[in-house]
Amino acid sequence: MSDPIRLARPDVGTAELAALGEVIESGQLTMGPKVAEFETSLAQAVGTAHAAVVSSGTAALHLALLALEIGPGDEVIVPAYTFPATANVVELCGARAVLVDVDPDTFLVDPSAVAAAVTPRTRAVMAVHLFGRPVEWEALQTSVPQEIVLLEDAAGALGARYRGTPCGALGVAGCLSFHPRKIVTTGEGGAVTTDEAALDEAVRRLRHHGWATLGDMPSPGFNYRLPDLLCAVGIPQLARLEELLAARERVAGWYTERLESLLLTPSAAEGDRHGWQAYVVQLERRDEALAGLREEGIEAQIGTWALHRLDPYRAQGPFPGADQAFERALALPFATTTTEDEVERVVAVLARFV
Ligand SMILES: Cc1ncc(COP(=O)(O)O)c(C=O)c1O
Repeated sequence: MSDPIRLARPDVGTAELAALGEVIESGQLTMGPKVAEFETSLAQAVGTAHAAVVSSGTAALHLALLALEIGPGDEVIVPAYTFPATANVVELCGARAVLVDVDPDTFLVDPSAVAAAVTPRTRAVMAVHLFGRPVEWEALQTSVPQEIVLLEDAAGALGARYRGTPCGALGVAGCLSFHPRKIVTTGEGGAVTTDEAALDEAVRRLRHHGWATLGDMPSPGFNYRLPDLLCAVGIPQLARLEELLAARERVAGWYTERLESLLLTPSAAEGDRHGWQAYVVQLERRDEALAGLREEGIEAQIGTWALHRLDPYRAQGPFPGADQAFERALALPFATTTTEDEVERVVAVLARFV
């Protein structure tokens, strides 16, 4: 059998190792200068006034909601097809995650479904740029009254742009993830990006036990900090964001060229830039294709989850768009270092199932 092909391969190496060594030698493993350095670079990359790093993308989502004082009695609109964390954090704030259906072709929230789900209790919409494809932002804005806050789950969208504006800078706050399947990784990590100083300050308090300054704790908080060790790993990668995205665009192009006549391939809308967190195709015989790829030593995976099929959200639905996406989506091996030969091997197997 040929060499196995991994689903994802983080693009980390000697620069990250050197950066880790430097932090270890400094003795300042957390709450040191690497945090601010990484945050400044992130704010610059996203084009927001502030970026506060936290321990995961989930922590970023959780703190963005808490910083907005979303809680019991409130509703937050969430797509029915997304990573469960998007909705889980809403529920864990004591608010209700109100699921709405997605367009199965793009995997993204349907603005007319959002409009239909608005009630007097709706405080926010969690817009997910799923797999890196930017949400139709203007359509979303016009689908809800102005007092409803638009938040971005940009976990997979660092580098993506909606009509030129970076994802993470579209909503009142953007939530990033640095999990190893993301374009920039710190192993685990996340960030909240925003132009609003008060929101940024609230996130910073909440990630650090609730301290405004040491001894002054207006409300309780968590330890959701990202240590210097991990910020140091993120800095050299973020410096290469454009290069990493260009490499992913090249791999996506190889796949699309070979697959677009066979099945539904991912793309961004005209004028947008896809963030290529993952390369997710859709086909009827998804389960057979997944098994077939695995038999050949090729790691593949379902796209993500239809939340109304999970216990906390079973009472909601039906969501035929999310069902279709859940049953048909297939994430192919995808990394900056994926080779054209690897793409050829994946395509050869997939072609048997279309
Ligand atoms: C859309 C989406 N939201 C949130 C998250 C959570 O991020 P993390 O794994 O960093 O907590 C992910 C992670 O996969 C995601 O894909």
